[in-house]
Amino acid sequence: MRARTRDRRVYLLSHPLLFALLAATRRRPAVRLGRTVLVHDREAFVAGLTRIPLDRTAAGTTGGAAGRLTGGDLLFDQNGDDHRRARRDTAEALGATGVSRLRPTWTGLLNRCLKPLADGATVDLVPVAAEMAGLTAAALLEVDVDGVTLATAARAAAAAAARAHLPGVRRPGTARAARQATERLSALLAPDGGDHAALATMLAVAAVTTTVAAVPRAAAWACDAQLWAYADRPALADELLRVTAPTPLLPRVAAEAGELPVPGGCPVRAGDRMLLVARHALDAHRLDPDPARPVPARIAQLAFGAGTHACPGARLARTQLADVLRMLAPYRPVVVRARVDRGAALPSWRSLVVRAS
Ligand code: HEM
Repeated sequence: MRARTRDRRVYLLSHPLLFALLAATRRRPAVRLGRTVLVHDREAFVAGLTRIPLDRTAAGTTGGAAGRLTGGDLLFDQNGDDHRRARRDTAEALGATGVSRLRPTWTGLLNRCLKPLADGATVDLVPVAAEMAGLTAAALLEVDVDGVTLATAARAAAAAAARAHLPGVRRPGTARAARQATERLSALLAPDGGDHAALATMLAVAAVTTTVAAVPRAAAWACDAQLWAYADRPALADELLRVTAPTPLLPRVAAEAGELPVPGGCPVRAGDRMLLVARHALDAHRLDPDPARPVPARIAQLAFGAGTHACPGARLARTQLADVLRMLAPYRPVVVRARVDRGAALPSWRSLVVRAS
């Protein structure tokens, strides 16, 4: 199957209306629908994250959702000095030294989990990515929980939160279910509560959901487009993160009025909702991955946002994906079966089964 055709299924089957709306409006740099502005243009996407003051606690935004679930005061929903202090600690743990320290955690796991490919057996890369993310988060947060348990709790909390924050009619009890799922995760990470419980919970959710979404989609694309010859180049992971855009849409709310830099201008008022389409800012919809001629780093980096809140886990995510691709490459794997996860917080595969070719 063509790589792009297969990957499109994760959007079409999980968020059909949203994806259709984004595709229908993408030729215009920014489109206003009532109090919501869809932002497709790259410069406007960056301006939406860096130049328009944002209300980081507003409902329906990443910060708002994270704050409501965990009791608040997390990186996503912080501003100014508090944010800078919390970022410093996280950035240190996720810097070059921190990532090298964590790396043996996942390379050991990958060695073990990918071994069946050598005997002609199949491997489902979704549980592998989940365990890898769970194990890494446990090591990062220095908690004694196994990777599968942590990842399962984090994915359940994220999926329940996504259901509770979807616009439209909700089934009764979704908010309570989301709270309970988050409490279960917090109890694993910080059994005696404490100040760090909310931050640890948010970090675990941010790390696990993105990794479970990103790694199998990137691997499927590499299988379908037979990109294994590039597995030793860091550009392969960057280009696959660009075309899969694991967090395709960043919902944000303006705290103050501003202007998006698009031809003819696009004023934004305080309280307006901006849907910042990372997928289009990255040219994911029209430019296939080319590890021999990758897009400039300043564009590829937008998969991780921009400005003071840009993803502190980017280095970890890139290194992990590069390791997965490098360790898969000798098997030249192909996709045997793929099933979409319709209930996940981010467009994801529910299972992605590969075997050596
Ligand atoms: C492929 C994997 C990942 C992708 C695509 C991704 C993407 C993003 C994006 C787009 C943002 C918002 C940036 C903004 O508002 O400008 C973000 C924030 C964040 N990410 Fe990631 N992320 C990934 C992996 C991770 C990992 C592995 C961790 C932790 C170990 C992590 C931790 C965070 C945190 C804590 C924030 C909030 C930062 C703040 O508000 O200051 N992410 N991520």
